[in-house]
Amino acid sequence: MKNFIENLPKAELHLHIEGSFEPAQMFEIAKRNNIQIPYKTVEEIEEAYKFDCLQDFLDIYYQGASVLIHEQDFYDLTYSYLKKCAEQNVRHTEIMFDPQTHTERGITFKTVVTGISKACEDAKKNLNVSSYLIMSFLRHLSEEDAFKTLKESLPFKEKIKAVGLDSSEKGNPPSKFKNVYKAAIKEGYIPLAHAGEEGPPEYIWEALDILKIKRIDHGNNCLQDDNLVKEIIQQDIALTVCPLSNTALQVVKDLKEHPLKKMMDLGLKVTINSDDPAYFGGQVNQNYIEIQKALGLSREDLVILAKNSFQYSLLSEDMKMKNIKLVDDYFEINKEL
Ligand code: ADE
Ligand code: ZN
Repeated sequence: MKNFIENLPKAELHLHIEGSFEPAQMFEIAKRNNIQIPYKTVEEIEEAYKFDCLQDFLDIYYQGASVLIHEQDFYDLTYSYLKKCAEQNVRHTEIMFDPQTHTERGITFKTVVTGISKACEDAKKNLNVSSYLIMSFLRHLSEEDAFKTLKESLPFKEKIKAVGLDSSEKGNPPSKFKNVYKAAIKEGYIPLAHAGEEGPPEYIWEALDILKIKRIDHGNNCLQDDNLVKEIIQQDIALTVCPLSNTALQVVKDLKEHPLKKMMDLGLKVTINSDDPAYFGGQVNQNYIEIQKALGLSREDLVILAKNSFQYSLLSEDMKMKNIKLVDDYFEINKEL
């Protein structure tokens, strides 16, 4: 199964670039930028990366991102992640970045987006990994601040495919961002959002009804509301599920209790993703491997998940079809007898 997963062509649809920041690279960039970080060793980092909840993680994640200063830092961070994609047979990835985490420290929007997108262009050429960027608004900040970010993004519009909503969910419902999503859609961005990770099903309803989202990041808590499950299926909207994130942030106690298979059996379209791989103990393949083992997923299940990752990506219909065919061909020659 491990080998089957490792060679399976797939896409990743839920990845925060700041969450791919591995400790060794964090030390290196902190050193060249002359910035002190509160850890001296990898052991100290491992100790700090034990989280009780989403907020607990976010405090450390924003601190880690604060060593990123120059365009080259954003380039190096992104290219390192894209190299891992190539190694894992991730053919396409949709990368979230949090501009406000950087602009509020005085780093320009241009520095952030230029560094990230240059790495994406080079990875397309050198590694044959395609990517789209998702600009995520931080939901603990105001809608006015999100509007400022939307405005800053406009000169770089052709580099950004979609908008997202992340950070502290509880107490920050999607409705808080109603106007800025409306404006973002008008500018041509595709609306996506985290919903139902820690927040209630009502937040998922709001994300669908008010923000008009086309994909739900996490969405685990939809299972508390049968009508919501029906609605998500009816609208053919996918959930970007992140198994190792869910256990790391204690959204799910144990992988064996993870609802992924239940979601599939209900008819929900789900995909497997790493969220913040440097913080949650595994890249996307590790997520596939561990959830397969915990839930006893079959090769057919894994193939459905990989096909969903292309089907519910933001790729053109033509590219979706080409990639889905790759998965079908792969399965044809790697079927269990
Ligand atoms: N930012 C980075 N990872 C996140 C997550 N899992 N939920 C909300 N915001 C995030
Ligand atoms: Zn996320």
